[in-house]
Amino acid sequence: MVSYKTLGLVNTKEMFAKAVAGGYAIPAFNFNNMEQLQAIIQAASETKSPVILQVSKGARNYANQTLLRYMAEGAVEYAKELGWENPQIVLHLDHGDSFEICKSCVDMGFSSVMIDASHLSYEENVALTKKVVDYAHQYDVTVEAELGVLAGVEDEVQAEESHYTRPEEVIDFATRTGCDSLAISIGTSHGAYKFKPEQCTRDEKTGRLVPPPLAFDILHEIEAKLPGFPIVLHGSSSVPQEYVDSINANGGKLPDAVGIPEEQLREASKSAVCKINIDSDSRLAMTAAIRKVFVEKPGEFDPRKYCGPARDEMKKLYTHKIVNVLGSDGKAE
Ligand code: G3H
Ligand code: 13P
Ligand code: ZN
Repeated sequence: MVSYKTLGLVNTKEMFAKAVAGGYAIPAFNFNNMEQLQAIIQAASETKSPVILQVSKGARNYANQTLLRYMAEGAVEYAKELGWENPQIVLHLDHGDSFEICKSCVDMGFSSVMIDASHLSYEENVALTKKVVDYAHQYDVTVEAELGVLAGVEDEVQAEESHYTRPEEVIDFATRTGCDSLAISIGTSHGAYKFKPEQCTRDEKTGRLVPPPLAFDILHEIEAKLPGFPIVLHGSSSVPQEYVDSINANGGKLPDAVGIPEEQLREASKSAVCKINIDSDSRLAMTAAIRKVFVEKPGEFDPRKYCGPARDEMKKLYTHKIVNVLGSDGKAE
């Protein structure tokens, strides 16, 4: 048993309370490799933003859970080296799908876990979430749960049918499970293809898809039922069109990739939404930068010469999200 506290990590409790009260959101960035982690830590250190490092099932399969945990421990020291005296870094399990995986993360030093039992029946979701909460809270590890089902398909996260969170369930769910935060479904979705063209309108001038707006009415109903309770949005990449264009111009093929407009995320950040999950945008930044190098310098074969620009582009993206979208800069001085 390793406590996250000895690794210099923090849980989400205080961070979320401050974010809800202050009208901003904490960025939750997924990481799978060193360059992503460096970029996240550089951006968070320079802006003094609290940050959540998320490890998905896909990341655990790709990079190994133990290695990722040690990388996060290293990230705390790296942040200090960069001059962030008091780094506020959470190591979080993203979309945990069983008690066992949540327990193994708690036991090896994660400071926060998500139990995603949203695909089960309501009563099964309550029971499994409560079991994880009862275990995690013994070690002061915070727990995110989910009610409602997001649309979208990712390598390891998929849902055939989505449905919005039912506001009438949230009080009962939060009370019976004791969870620390709640991921809700209000129209966000995983991946770079969040909406089918038939769900969107098309901007006549640019020819780009315009997605349907998020269900802010449901968010506000939930907030009214659980005043001050931390709410989480998954699937919140905005799929920057400059990356999509650059990828397509350099041999890629991402037709009609579309995300959540940043103005809507900005608006959500001002509410009880205090954690916003972003993964796909970082994948796009990395891919755009690497494709550009490959096209412009076909003779290049040193991975540092394309992973380096990819890292710089991701840092730019993370900094932009922190400062211009979520408003978390300067909140962890
Ligand atoms: O929520 C999903 C994340 O984007 C992680 O996806 O399991 O393919 O790493 P992944
Ligand atoms: P995106 O695919 O929109 O980046 O969402 C990531 C996410 O929700 C991770 O849990
Ligand atoms: Zn997610």
